[in-house]
Amino acid sequence: MKAACRQITKSGKTLGFVPTMGALHEGHFSLVRASRARCDVTAVSIFVNPLQFGPTEDLDKYPRQLERDAAMLEKLGVELLFVPTADEMYGTQVSVQKKDANLGHPRSAEQAKTYVIVEGLSDKLDGASRPGHFRGVATVVAKLFEIVRPDHAFFGQKDAVQVTVLRRMVRDLDLDVEIVVCPIVREPDGLAMSSRNVYLTAEERRQALVLHRALMRVQTGVDRGERDAEKLREIGLGVIGEEPGARLDYFAIVDPETLDPIADVARGALVAVAAYFGNTRLIDNIVLAPA
Ligand code: PAJ
Repeated sequence: MKAACRQITKSGKTLGFVPTMGALHEGHFSLVRASRARCDVTAVSIFVNPLQFGPTEDLDKYPRQLERDAAMLEKLGVELLFVPTADEMYGTQVSVQKKDANLGHPRSAEQAKTYVIVEGLSDKLDGASRPGHFRGVATVVAKLFEIVRPDHAFFGQKDAVQVTVLRRMVRDLDLDVEIVVCPIVREPDGLAMSSRNVYLTAEERRQALVLHRALMRVQTGVDRGERDAEKLREIGLGVIGEEPGARLDYFAIVDPETLDPIADVARGALVAVAAYFGNTRLIDNIVLAPA
């Protein structure tokens, strides 16, 4: 993969990169299209990264459909597809041991010992509920960036905290890549597309619409002139509370760069929500523009 990517950059072509975990949907394809529009050559990676899954999370059952994914990417005109094994990425297999809180920690000399931790961001919002998750994300993305060395890398606003963490990593480590963030792609009824939506029963799928509904109601509050973040948050929480099937993880109104709660949304804000429907954890968000 390194050789193929270096050859492209050496020939003077710009290289766009879209990292994914596969089970591709329109959200992923929108990133591929953005890369194709902006760069001469597009590389995609598919890697279900064990390092970003907690010991009780869905690593084993995460949907895998490589052949279908590869065919779709080829149709879209993607030139390079990178599908490494966990072994290739981390030495010997990083197995997430059940009941082992110290997830992904190296247990043999051959295993990787180096991680990227974006302090002060990695443990907020999703990072608070998923310890080690953003260490896994930052580490794998840093490695993928070094393998591909893309000019532009494309990420979805869907994973807003991931974007904040990775932007900070790029800045702090002086990485030579421009991060491009693309809007959330939704189903016609408003549900944000996610590879995890396949886990939902029909009833949970209906319940999950409450996330988008709550965010829209917050947006309406802002449109009507409300700037007080706590009042806006109460509006959102009220909507979530109307759906007994939703088990809230967080509903937060934060500064998009620091992820710290803000009191007033006049200068812009990230409104982010995470909730469980059955065993499936879903996230969604909207960005409030500065007034
Ligand atoms: P994955 O969940 O497969 O997502 C890959 C990319 O697609 C991410 O940038 C994500 O934000 C984007 N994406 C997913 N659903 C989207 C939607 N509905 N609209 C727009 N973009 C969407 O995110 C990861 O994988 C991993 O953490 C990864 C960055 C690959 C590191 O392992």
